[in-house]
Amino acid sequence: MSTVCQILSEERFDKESIVTLLMSEGNDRELLFAKAAEVKHEYIGNKVHLRGLIELTNHCTKNCHYCGIGASNKKLQRFMVSLPEVEEAIQFTYANNYGSLVIQTGEIQSESFTQIIEDILFAITRIGKGKLGVTLSCGEQSIRTYRRWKAAGAHRYLLRIESSDRNLYYKLHPNNKKHNYHIRLEALKNLQKCGYQTGTGVMIGLPFQTIENLADDLLFMRNLNIDMCGMGPYIEHVDTELYKYKDLVPTKKARIDLSLKMIAILRIMMKDINIAATTAMQTLVDGGREMALVAGANILMPNTTPGLYREQYALYNDKPGINEEAEDSKQSIEKLIIRAGCVASYGEQGNSIHYTKRIK
Ligand code: 5AD
Repeated sequence: MSTVCQILSEERFDKESIVTLLMSEGNDRELLFAKAAEVKHEYIGNKVHLRGLIELTNHCTKNCHYCGIGASNKKLQRFMVSLPEVEEAIQFTYANNYGSLVIQTGEIQSESFTQIIEDILFAITRIGKGKLGVTLSCGEQSIRTYRRWKAAGAHRYLLRIESSDRNLYYKLHPNNKKHNYHIRLEALKNLQKCGYQTGTGVMIGLPFQTIENLADDLLFMRNLNIDMCGMGPYIEHVDTELYKYKDLVPTKKARIDLSLKMIAILRIMMKDINIAATTAMQTLVDGGREMALVAGANILMPNTTPGLYREQYALYNDKPGINEEAEDSKQSIEKLIIRAGCVASYGEQGNSIHYTKRIK
């Protein structure tokens, strides 16, 4: 029996074993994906849950070295989708029976921003007749704000740790109070305290990132006992600090391969959590999201941001769906899901089974 075969049959997920799995090739690699498929089949089934994604604003007060919408990028036109336009997107999600939606923004901490999100949450409850699941992804906020949004109707919150390794974290972010690893971690714990279904994630294939870092990222997610995960490949953006290290970035093929293995291993480690097939997967390779679903993901987030604004929400270069609303139309999403051998689930919130069990 090969080492990989042994690790998988014993479900041994110490750092060394995870590294071995991340480096597996050929038959061993096939075994990893087969095991992930088996676990997904048993614990999740072949349903894919949908979340209509609204990229609400690209205003951001941070300057993360990898991200195209950082405050210091002066080339970008800043936008905020208006409430009537948001209401239209909510109506679209409701009419299409997607079951859930995600509000994603740059990071802004202010009373007026808190209020804007609160008003949107009220609109979601009203338009969705209380039936829509709501995920927020609005960065680090005070526990008071997290509580207020929860009370206004949010169910889930996604806050990526980006990298669980402190040293790497500080290579990816400016060294100042605004970008602090411990505050990030505290925010994640506060979200759990507030009762959110809590999600995190990392970027894969970053400059300076090692396979050991990625193994630690997975152990971090297990230790934190997360309910959801959204992770995907790092993609260069010319107008960012990190771009100067572009030669240190693994090939597209390697980033895709690593991302798929991360999803597969996490599925086996945390069987009943929600894992998203992210847009970044799609950006690096055509069919990237299908591949993620096959590897173990069970969540898709079709973009429902009004077309006008999509171009300005460029976290990284070559983001798909810009200028083509058809990319994420109901028909193409459905075809994508079928190609992955799954079925689209309509009219269900698709809450994390892990969370439901955890709070019992
Ligand atoms: N490549 C891949 N993902 C990125 N994100 C931001 N910039 C990039 C990039 N260059 C991800 C981060 C962030 C999420 C909103 O988008 O993980 O949390």
